[in-house]
Amino acid sequence: MARRAGELFELEILGGNTERRFRKMRPEVEEMPWGTMDLSGAPPERLIEARKAWTGAAYQEHRTAAACAITLRALIEARAPLDLIAVASRFPLDEMVHVELCARMAMEMGGGTEIIHDPDAMVLDVNPEASPLMRAAECAVRFFCVGEAISIPLLRATWHVAKHPLPRAVMGRIVKDEAAHGVFGFTFLDWALPRLSEQDRRDLGASADLAIRFLERQWDHTRRHRREPVHDGDVLGWMKTDDYLALAEQSMETLVLRPLLARGIPVMGRTPEAVEFV
Ligand SMILES: [Fe+2]
Ligand SMILES: [Fe+2]
Repeated sequence: MARRAGELFELEILGGNTERRFRKMRPEVEEMPWGTMDLSGAPPERLIEARKAWTGAAYQEHRTAAACAITLRALIEARAPLDLIAVASRFPLDEMVHVELCARMAMEMGGGTEIIHDPDAMVLDVNPEASPLMRAAECAVRFFCVGEAISIPLLRATWHVAKHPLPRAVMGRIVKDEAAHGVFGFTFLDWALPRLSEQDRRDLGASADLAIRFLERQWDHTRRHRREPVHDGDVLGWMKTDDYLALAEQSMETLVLRPLLARGIPVMGRTPEAVEFV
């Protein structure tokens, strides 16, 4: 079957009772100081970069929502502990809140920018041949032990350097939600590990490698497109490129690689036995 052409990443709000219910679930979104940023001194080209950055962030949050939903299904199919599934059931909602926050930040900067995406390839799906437990474990490793765990220190550092109350409130909300997402993957693994074979662990290591290499490609792109902060809404500029990349590298070691190796999962050519845990 022929693949569909890319589609524009656009968002809409249905309104009425549905929006009211949503606002009641997450009232903090409306309580943020929207419309208070003065960007009159920002050069137009930097505003465009900020609009692109926030629109890109909204799309990344949207992708993460899909990853959380796939994980949730896999957890249910694997009959993971009920309380663990219940905790994870909040994650897609958190991510949709983050989508709205980032999209509204782009609007504050003057409007979203164009993103053409392939909805059929938003996230890499799990191996359909794998057992229910391994499908859930693959999701936990790729999306949470790598993706979400690494994003926490980077988001927190970005939040710390944000000065204006609006981006501070937006980043603060995201950081608060992500803290729970970051620990989830390892909590799942600690439950699943006694049920996994050596081969399962090697397969999970390969899944982790895939997710880590994806991140490394993104960081290479950041390295080649350096930026420095110039105004309050300039999300990527909040942290100097070198600081961001140094923190990313250090966090990869301490929050992703070592915790995976400590659980007997070989990753990025390293074997658990070769690592001393202090
Ligand atoms: Fe998020
Ligand atoms: Fe998240």
